[in-house]
Amino acid sequence: MQERLDKLKNEIKEALKVVKNSDSLKDLELKYLSRKGEFNQILKSIASLAEEEKKKIGSLANEVKKDLMDEFSKIKNSFDNEEKIVFVDVTMPGTKFSKGHLNPITLIQNDLENLFTSMGFMVLDGPELESDYYCFEALNIPKNHPARDMQDTFYIDKKNTKGEFDLVMRPHTSPVQVRAMQKYGAPLRCVAPGRVFRSEALDACHEHTFYQMEGLMIDENISMANLISVMKELINGIFKREVKTRIRPGYFPFVEPGIELDIECTICGGVGCASCKHSGWLELLPAGMVHPRVLEHGGIDTDKYSGFAFGLGLTRLAMMKYGISDIRHFNGADLRFLSQF
Ligand code: FA5
Repeated sequence: MQERLDKLKNEIKEALKVVKNSDSLKDLELKYLSRKGEFNQILKSIASLAEEEKKKIGSLANEVKKDLMDEFSKIKNSFDNEEKIVFVDVTMPGTKFSKGHLNPITLIQNDLENLFTSMGFMVLDGPELESDYYCFEALNIPKNHPARDMQDTFYIDKKNTKGEFDLVMRPHTSPVQVRAMQKYGAPLRCVAPGRVFRSEALDACHEHTFYQMEGLMIDENISMANLISVMKELINGIFKREVKTRIRPGYFPFVEPGIELDIECTICGGVGCASCKHSGWLELLPAGMVHPRVLEHGGIDTDKYSGFAFGLGLTRLAMMKYGISDIRHFNGADLRFLSQF
């Protein structure tokens, strides 16, 4: 009996030496140490031994069983620890996180701000909900003047502190002109990019909500020559290539004289398409010498100072720079459009 016990013990120890994982360990435990396992078969046969022998072999069998069970649990623990270690293949490609994009308007606004600050201009901000005074009155457009139609906007159904209906969604960035003059006086160089709103019939080049950038320069002896030179800097700085422009007279009550700079449509190359209303040209950059009445509203000494102002169509400039054929894409919230930039 002792021989059988020794043989089985050695057999089990040999098997444990080559066991590879917890599954095959479990199989071995089942085979040898379970209720129906080989070890228990030997224990059962002890009952038929003589009293003296039963005692001796019984205690030996218990010792061997305890020894084997310790061995099993030691190996099991080592497998458990090994299996807890997560295998990471560092050569596998990582998970890609999708990045946000700067909107094309922001890209072009950043470029313009860099360009103008390099020429000594300040970058200013103005309120989108603006007073009738700054949007129209201070810009030489009195109430009921037909020129109000050119920048028709959304009037707000709320009275100001004087009990008047005075608030509008600003239809252009020009109200920043008088605000800047009142705050900083002359001499003054500033640009003011921002969102504007119009009551507008929409098409490929007209939106109800779009961006402009106002420009203003006031100093002694400022003339149209300064204005044209800054306009050229602006167009060259943004396109960095030859683009065709033309300048023609334009009417705005807040400038005298007034001009309009148009750009040859970059979508059709001047042939005519929906983006330029089939004219081959797009109105981009109206401007002019600031009207003395506007300077007076800003508290500027008109005997000493003169100035120019422009109102760049920022959204249209982005269309022309990036070849976007329809302005409505900007507010369309289509990620396929935005992720191209
Ligand atoms: C004005 O808004 C004047 N405040 C510009 C100005 C400033 C003139 C200073 C003189 C001195 P206008 O309404 O033309 O002007 O608009 C200026 C530019 O904004 C246009 O040339 C065009 O590029 C753009 N724009 C006008 N309306 C829309 C619209 N509905 N959708 C997209 N862009 C527009």
